[in-house]
Amino acid sequence: MSAVNEKKVAALEAVKYIKSGMTVGLGTGSTAFFMIEAIGEMVKNGLQIKAVATSNETEKLATKLGINVITLAEAKRLDVTIDGADEVDEDFQLIKGGGGALLREKIVAHNSDLNVIIADSSKSVAKLGKFKLPIETIPFATQLILKELDDMGLSPVQRMKGDKAYKTDENNDILDIDIWDTEIELNDLEQQLKSIPGVVETGLFLTSTNVVIIGIGEEAVIKK
Ligand code: 5RP
Repeated sequence: MSAVNEKKVAALEAVKYIKSGMTVGLGTGSTAFFMIEAIGEMVKNGLQIKAVATSNETEKLATKLGINVITLAEAKRLDVTIDGADEVDEDFQLIKGGGGALLREKIVAHNSDLNVIIADSSKSVAKLGKFKLPIETIPFATQLILKELDDMGLSPVQRMKGDKAYKTDENNDILDIDIWDTEIELNDLEQQLKSIPGVVETGLFLTSTNVVIIGIGEEAVIKK
């Protein structure tokens, strides 16, 4: 079965966590797309929810499908957030940010009672780091952070869109770094990266995830 179908299988299982009256965090990306589409259908059939979007792209899609999108400030707290991941390990640690929305995604996850991650089987890994870890940086500091991360042996590459620097919804830059061979433990790495002035956020999500749903063939495998 294709990755696309596995994404859909995981997404359709995840939306079972959503009940009327809830405030729901909506993730970003091609897996989250199927979840948002399914919620749009549920709303048409009478589900009443409020939602907070983790990117402009998600907000646009959700609004188009008739989902009531509110701000995080209005929501204050979320009941459940459903989002994708670039990699997930057995300890529910994630690399996120392939789609560039890691900052809002991490904020929304932090403010959510339950975080459900949905992914196709290719995202499930024994060790994080084959996927390059995205780091969001303030443009004023990006070139100096590039040098600092290079000195740490993390081979940073600035993400581009054509011949221009890729910009996040917050108008920041993304540096993709290679953590595969690093001997620094992930929690320490997160602290070290966040301690560099100008680093806004990293795509390491180490403690926020409660449930992982992986589409494997026709089946949704739920891990709690
Ligand atoms: C966006 C993300 C996405 O969840 C991640 O990139 C996975 O995307 P996809 O579902 O398209 O594979 O973190 O910032």
